[in-house]
Amino acid sequence: MGNEESTMMDDTIAPSVLEARNIEAVAKYIKVYDVKKVVLMVGAGISTSAGIPDFRSPDTGIYANLAFLDLPEPEDVFDIGFFRENPKPFYALAHELYPGRYRPTIVHSFIRLLYEKGMLLKHFTQNIDCLERQAGVPGDKIIEAHGSFASQHCIDCKELYPDEEMHEKVAKSEVPHCHKCNGLIKPDIVFFGEALPSSFFDNRDLPAEADLCIVMGTSLQVQPFASLPSLCSEGVPRVLINKEQVGGLGSRKDDVLLLGDCDAGVLRFARALGWEEELEALWEKTNPDLQSRAEETAPPQTRDERLHDEVERLTEEVDRTLGLTEAYQRKVHEKLESHESPEAHRQSGGLGHVFPHLKLSH
Ligand code: APR
Repeated sequence: MGNEESTMMDDTIAPSVLEARNIEAVAKYIKVYDVKKVVLMVGAGISTSAGIPDFRSPDTGIYANLAFLDLPEPEDVFDIGFFRENPKPFYALAHELYPGRYRPTIVHSFIRLLYEKGMLLKHFTQNIDCLERQAGVPGDKIIEAHGSFASQHCIDCKELYPDEEMHEKVAKSEVPHCHKCNGLIKPDIVFFGEALPSSFFDNRDLPAEADLCIVMGTSLQVQPFASLPSLCSEGVPRVLINKEQVGGLGSRKDDVLLLGDCDAGVLRFARALGWEEELEALWEKTNPDLQSRAEETAPPQTRDERLHDEVERLTEEVDRTLGLTEAYQRKVHEKLESHESPEAHRQSGGLGHVFPHLKLSH
């Protein structure tokens, strides 16, 4: 199933549901019709402001910058046949893309906000960065159509490979091998030539049930994902928030194209909905400095609190020492039963060398 007709709607033809073909009219539609079944379809463009390059943007995209890996074709880095021959280019790239170093963008928090408002029917993503999960979107609402770095298996015997070891290998740009058969380990990302997860096909009827479709940050170049927007029912508004027009978006009467940066587009959408403050607050929660700032700004302890903590600490220390003393006494009795006197033992240093700061009375 290819992309739908991509002839743009004539501006002189009025929308059938929306008052106008703009994002403010979509915000009004959401309120008037109490929209509750929003389907999203996103790609790498929603993560670029987090610092993760997309694939096809000229100059900045991953495919424009893989020359250092001297691949026959840039997309070979995600080709399963090429990976079997030479996994090194992929692991060099994985070292750069691996989750954990990036903060979700305001777009990821907007997706979370739709969920919080009970409006998110399903979020289809092509991204492997797990930033939707990191922003707090529940896993059962997400279809990672091209897989993710969340887990990894042997490409031969399918044995699961431990997460911790994978993190270490990727951090060192090393190629992990299966503990069972020594085969190549690959993250559960869908490579060209591999089937998409069944969850994608099991949920592909949802766009037809949606009362609003939002497409963001994708070139819609890769099937079968690219066919999703065309599965939305006629008369259901579809919004494209993207730097460029893509696929068949713009060909229907109630399509709205918000062309430009997606962070700015989402902020304008939130402002039209009256959600700007909620969105900013939700995004602030993803701020990695928040935790350290919370510790720095914790209220100073009162004198009583400080005293209580000190007594707690000393009590624990005495208990520990008493415990050790009992163990020591047991040891002394054992020695008595043998022959060495405690005096002789004390001369040789006894417990003092273990806790020099505690003046243990003999
Ligand atoms: N704001 C809005 N749009 C953006 C931004 C941004 N900050 N940054 C990039 N874009 C747009 C680009 O103009 C482009 O249209 O996002 C789109 C990104 O397209 P691609 O780089 O092709 O990424 P994507 O659509 O996710 O690729 C699909 O291709 O290589 C495979 O498996 C890979 O999942 C990937 C699939």
